[in-house]
Amino acid sequence: MKKKVSIKINGKMYEREVEPRLTLVDFLRHEIDLTGTHVGCEHGVCGACTVLINGHSGRSCLTFAVQADGAEITTVEGLAAADGELNALQQSLRDNHGLQCGFCTPGVLISLTELLRDNPDPSEEQVRDVLTGNLCRCTGYAGIVAAALETARRAHGEARS
Ligand code: FES
Ligand code: FES
Repeated sequence: MKKKVSIKINGKMYEREVEPRLTLVDFLRHEIDLTGTHVGCEHGVCGACTVLINGHSGRSCLTFAVQADGAEITTVEGLAAADGELNALQQSLRDNHGLQCGFCTPGVLISLTELLRDNPDPSEEQVRDVLTGNLCRCTGYAGIVAAALETARRAHGEARS
C-alpha cells in the first residue's frame, strides 16, 4: 500500500505517494527528476548515491523514501547557486581535474561538503579518509584531494583577508 511522504529537498517541499519499498535514490531520480544522484552498486559500497539527510551524509540506496519522510535532503543539485554558478568546491574539482567520467562526482561532492562544513581545515589524510567511502574508477583521487584542500585553503584565505 502506498504511503504519503513529505520531504524537503534542496529547500523545496515535495509530497508524493510512494510504495514502501521505493528507495530514496529512486525517489529522487524517478519521482522528483533529480538525476544528479547516481546509482552504482545499490549495496552501500560505492558512495555514488550519497546525499545529506538532515545534514549528515547517507546512502540513498540504503534508505527508503518512507524513512526520509519529514527529513531535509541535500543533493548535488542543491550545491550550485540558483543561476547555475558552481560553488567553490565544485569549481575546484573542475580546476584540479578531479572528474573524468563524473559518475562518482555527485557522491564525492556531498561527502566533501560535509567534511569541509565540519572540519574547514582538514589534513590530506582526513580528506583521503572521507573519500574511502566514495569509489572512483577514473581519477586516482589526486585531483579530488587537491580540490578539497584548495577549497579549504581558499576559504581560510578569504576569511583572513
Ligand atoms: S549506489 Fe548507494 S552506495 Fe553504491
Ligand atoms: S570520475 Fe569516473 S568514477 Fe570517478
